[in-house]
Amino acid sequence: MPERNLDFDSVIDRRNTNCLKYDFAKRRGLPEDVLPFWVADMDFATSSYVEDALADRIKHGIFGYSEVGTEYFNAVCGWMERHHGWKPEEKWLVKTPGVVFALAMAVKAYTEPGDAVLLQSPVYYPFSEVIEDNGRRVVSNTLYLGGDNRYHMDFEDFERKIVEEKIKLFFLCNPHNPVGRVWTREELETIGDICVQRHVIVVSDEIHQDFTFRGKHHVFAGLKKEYEDIALVCTSPSKTFNLASMLVSNIFIPNPSLRRKFRKELDAAGISQLSILGLTACEAAYSKGEEWYQAMYSYVADNIAFTEQYIEKNFGEKSRSVRMTDHEGTYLVWLDFRGTGLPAEELDERIIHRAKLWLDSGKIFGESGRGFQRINVACPRGVLSEALERIRKVIQE
Ligand SMILES: Cc1ncc(COP(=O)(O)O)c(C=O)c1O
Repeated sequence: MPERNLDFDSVIDRRNTNCLKYDFAKRRGLPEDVLPFWVADMDFATSSYVEDALADRIKHGIFGYSEVGTEYFNAVCGWMERHHGWKPEEKWLVKTPGVVFALAMAVKAYTEPGDAVLLQSPVYYPFSEVIEDNGRRVVSNTLYLGGDNRYHMDFEDFERKIVEEKIKLFFLCNPHNPVGRVWTREELETIGDICVQRHVIVVSDEIHQDFTFRGKHHVFAGLKKEYEDIALVCTSPSKTFNLASMLVSNIFIPNPSLRRKFRKELDAAGISQLSILGLTACEAAYSKGEEWYQAMYSYVADNIAFTEQYIEKNFGEKSRSVRMTDHEGTYLVWLDFRGTGLPAEELDERIIHRAKLWLDSGKIFGESGRGFQRINVACPRGVLSEALERIRKVIQE
């Protein structure tokens, strides 16, 4: 049966579906009619193969405790091998109900209350939340925006912070949300070697691995044999196939001792099996979703190019009041509004109340995100175009 869900231009009404993105604006203090571009899910229906696999499973009618075996692993591993050239072993796999959940488990497993955990802000804000909410401290090796309009890592600061703050755990965002970088082999090996030498465990959050538009995604643990000893590789079909509420992620932990400690935290949290619907969706997506993925990927790539051209045409040369930072990966585009001269609060006010758009304000990703906004472009092009036009109006008027 051919793939049915290849129309990405049509708008699917998500209102009144218990949709976090569309149905909760008012409850969160925003105007009810804002157009949302914040949370990282897509306004596209997933692959019809996933829909069909779920429908078949639902028809069975019994939803008792469930587990999956080698076929599931082969689907996940096959995807990793075909798309990222990395072949994990079955025993490395630990399944969790989400990547953020896995980050929290890593904090508990590998650090003590009061310890510092390293991250690279501006970064996906739950990174800091799971550190602080577990009574640990956030230390940032803050990224900087270079003259080339790309973000970079400060390696000296990275090593200094590890030594000074006695860092045992580092959260790597690979590719990086929100700055859109796909880290190069050289960058990853520079920090990887420091982590090996300084005995730092690296949690590599690779949830955006399938959205690399420039460069190449490198699975951190696949770069050097010795990285397998210090790494947790966090993957999930949730971004790639729009399955966030299915609550399934696949965490690869090659080092048996790190894996044991991690599993112990899962036990302590009372997690054993996941939902059969999530597992079914994951297996179908990775084993049958290729055509859908390729079509969705091209559409999103075109949306990114569309955004880049729009910004260049309307804010280029003359004013540079809004700039799009060089975008390599993820479907979350990072816009620099500092050239408008507007204070961050005034910028938020214009975007939310005048443009009636719900983006993610840059400052929630850390102080270094002030003056930026993140926009999710995984939506029909007509909707994206409307958002960009509204931004132009409230900035230029
Ligand atoms: C870098 C990163 N990690 C994790 C997540 C969320 O993962 P999950 O929903 O599996 O907890 C997101 C979602 O936006 C993300 O951008």
